[in-house]
Amino acid sequence: MKLNKFLFAFFIILIFSLVFFIFSILLFMPTNTVGNSVPKIQNKSNNQIKNDENLNYKIINISKKHKATESYLKYPKFENDALNKNLYSHIQKIISDFESEYQHYEKDTQLKSPKLKLETDIGFFKDNIVSIRFFINRNYLGYPNPVKFYECYLFDLNTGNEINVFDLFEDYSYFLYNKSTEYFKNNYGISINKKSENYYDIAPKMENYTKIFIKNDFFEFLIFDYKKNEDVILRLKLEEINPFLKKIQQTKNTQDLTTFPKTIDDNKNNKFEQLQTTQQITEQTTQQTENPYNIDSNKPMIALTFDDGPNGKITNKILDILEENNSRATFFVVGRRLDKDAEVLKRMDKLGNQIGNHTFNHKNLAQLSKEQITFEIEKINEKLQNYIGKKSQIVRIPYGATNEVVLESVPYPIILWNVDTRDWESRNTDSIIKEIRKKAKDGSIILMHDLYETTAKACEIIIPELVKQGYQLVTIDELMKYRGIELKSGIKYYNATKK
Ligand code: NI
Repeated sequence: MKLNKFLFAFFIILIFSLVFFIFSILLFMPTNTVGNSVPKIQNKSNNQIKNDENLNYKIINISKKHKATESYLKYPKFENDALNKNLYSHIQKIISDFESEYQHYEKDTQLKSPKLKLETDIGFFKDNIVSIRFFINRNYLGYPNPVKFYECYLFDLNTGNEINVFDLFEDYSYFLYNKSTEYFKNNYGISINKKSENYYDIAPKMENYTKIFIKNDFFEFLIFDYKKNEDVILRLKLEEINPFLKKIQQTKNTQDLTTFPKTIDDNKNNKFEQLQTTQQITEQTTQQTENPYNIDSNKPMIALTFDDGPNGKITNKILDILEENNSRATFFVVGRRLDKDAEVLKRMDKLGNQIGNHTFNHKNLAQLSKEQITFEIEKINEKLQNYIGKKSQIVRIPYGATNEVVLESVPYPIILWNVDTRDWESRNTDSIIKEIRKKAKDGSIILMHDLYETTAKACEIIIPELVKQGYQLVTIDELMKYRGIELKSGIKYYNATKK
């Protein structure tokens, strides 16, 4: 009995000490903060490096509910209120873009709880600069913005003002371009040249290399990996980029800043002029015959429309299919893609396809002022005039988002659709085909996007099929003309079915 009591006491002590041991381990373990704990202090003797030791910022970790979406945010709050305000305005923009996109596609999507997650990387540089990188993750698969992406900003810690990369660095674009080509060579064995499909994404222009992040002794930049279809981060040692740092001068040297962008614009203008003259000639010759494609107004017809391009290979593939099937379509192009795919745009036009205006930046026009809307509509027309010698006479509003201001400010007919393939959502060839087979009929306007391989593949099947069924695949102008519908500014058109 005595021994049993002793053993019992021994076990009690053992258990207590074990519990105490485990507890103390848990207590002293570093807290596992995902992503952005306060950066570790590194004892490096490079004077370019700013230790984070004395910088005071807090990490704000909150979730917010908006009208339809929720966001989970993790971002820093500094001692400088101006900086906080500038930083937060970027966050608000990211949230409101997500919210408005979701609102637009709400009817179509199955997703019940759209969530946005934003995390922040923070780095310090040169005593007074903070480098911020947001990693944004959205569980809602809406076009046009990707599911995962990054945004980068630099701020002056003293004034709180945002700093432009152009103010901080000399033109490092050739250097980063070479690093990017190395990346494609090493990872995929691809040699990038001017004819490569992603050349314009990584071409040696400063505009392609503004998403940067600097922390401790490294410099990171983002490029689009078209094989993975996502942004990737390429890392350099800070000392590799040091030669491009502008001399730290308190008096701002404006001369440096203006020379680089100016030369680029000059080149562009010359190019535009050349293109314009050649295109004007082709336009004159194509307008000679009244009905060059022998469209029969008594036979059924359908207008296929493709939004958000032009988009290199994929648009070209769709153009091939249309051409092979003696058919045409309407492409509602986005202005900021035109320089990148000018050749594709010209080919579109040359083959008799119609080019529609899908605005310059694909913004939600319902959130813009009259002046901003006019810019979005007219800026793209300037480019079209330069490339194909004519403006677009029809508009498709991004997200279909209109209000009174939008309708008043858009001096063109607004073309919508009555068959939505939802190709951006499904990215599934079979379901795109199924949707068209089910809903397309005489007078239909079908919505697709020349962004996805799956859409191009669906076209490969559905275009010859529709033609075989006796449909004439025509442009919006042709459809309306041969159905006797007169297009009027500020009016929405969904189809041209016979009454
Ligand atoms: Ni669009």
